[in-house]
Amino acid sequence: MGTTIFTVMSALATEHNAVNLGQGFPDYPMSEELIADVNEAMRQGFNQYVPMQGYMPLREVLAEKVQGLYKTIVSPDTQITITPGGTYAIYTALTTVLQPGDEVIIFEPAYDSYVPNVEVNGAIPILIDLKFPEYKIDWAEVRHKISPKTKMIMLNSPHNPTGAVLREEDMAELREIVKGTNIFICSDEVYEHLIFDNIPHQSILRYPDLLERSFVCFSFGKVYHCTGWKLGYCISSPALMQEFRKVHQFNCFSCNSPQQVALSKFISNRNSYLSLPSFMQQKRDYFIRLMQNTKFKLLDSKGSYFICATYDQISNESDTNFSIRITKEYGVTSIPVSVFYRAGTDNKVVRFCFAKKNETLEAAVQKLINIV
Ligand SMILES: Cc1ncc(COP(=O)(O)O)c(C=O)c1O
Repeated sequence: MGTTIFTVMSALATEHNAVNLGQGFPDYPMSEELIADVNEAMRQGFNQYVPMQGYMPLREVLAEKVQGLYKTIVSPDTQITITPGGTYAIYTALTTVLQPGDEVIIFEPAYDSYVPNVEVNGAIPILIDLKFPEYKIDWAEVRHKISPKTKMIMLNSPHNPTGAVLREEDMAELREIVKGTNIFICSDEVYEHLIFDNIPHQSILRYPDLLERSFVCFSFGKVYHCTGWKLGYCISSPALMQEFRKVHQFNCFSCNSPQQVALSKFISNRNSYLSLPSFMQQKRDYFIRLMQNTKFKLLDSKGSYFICATYDQISNESDTNFSIRITKEYGVTSIPVSVFYRAGTDNKVVRFCFAKKNETLEAAVQKLINIV
């Protein structure tokens, strides 16, 4: 296995002094209040291991949040575990249930850890393309690809890299498909609060019948603009969470204590998450406005902090060559979407991250305007 495209493109961005809209992380500061809360927690002496499941007051505040947002009661004691990031939660969920030879349905384009995480467990990824250009799930194809070996379906909404989001109709299809089967679900909801245009987030947590068979994975780093914290959590049924913890206890055991203490205080203010959709929507809308002056055609982004663009008015190069060339010649870095497909499917689409300061977005678009 080689180096990921994110490493390659970021190195290229540095080498050519390019504005990096490739990798998904904010370049603006995180909340001062949350930083102060971590400092305070450290001064108060929260510097030793917290329990393996996570700091209880944080799990309690998360359970309250889930009840407030999705009307589902989850037990902080038996259903929530704090993890070192969303990726780890996903890996742990897969490792908890997969046996060699099991099949796992993955929709592509897909976040880059899914396929390797399935394969390292000896299981087989069954890949289904999201329908371009809306990147919707073709549920008829899902029905067709389900077999007696299907162990799990992986979901991701809001979706990286496309910004697509699942709708109520999708959840109805999913419920119908898994009813009466032993299929598990791993739902990657790390962009939970980054959803726009007043669309309700279709969390698995809204559906108790789905939660029974699901691992729902979240990331504090993604929603609180501190990706470097690598802190997240997983919610599941009591029975599945018990198994999840068997893997977790010998892998990481216990996560960063002062951050958990700080988050338990910070999240108890509902505004800490209710304000996030409009904050990020403003960034999306600003980027869309700026990009109108370029020859790129933006696709729809309803969530996450990514937006995809086609460039057929500029070139018919492969998306990878195009991304490399515009980094070198015009000084803006994007990510070619073909890298999110195992087979390298190239719809000639690149992904931009708009979780950036307005000045960064302006500087990037100033350069993109020059591409004719
Ligand atoms: C879809 C998706 N899932 C998970 C993650 C990782 O989250 P974390 O940094 O908390 O591991 C990312 C980060 O890019 C992501 O885009």
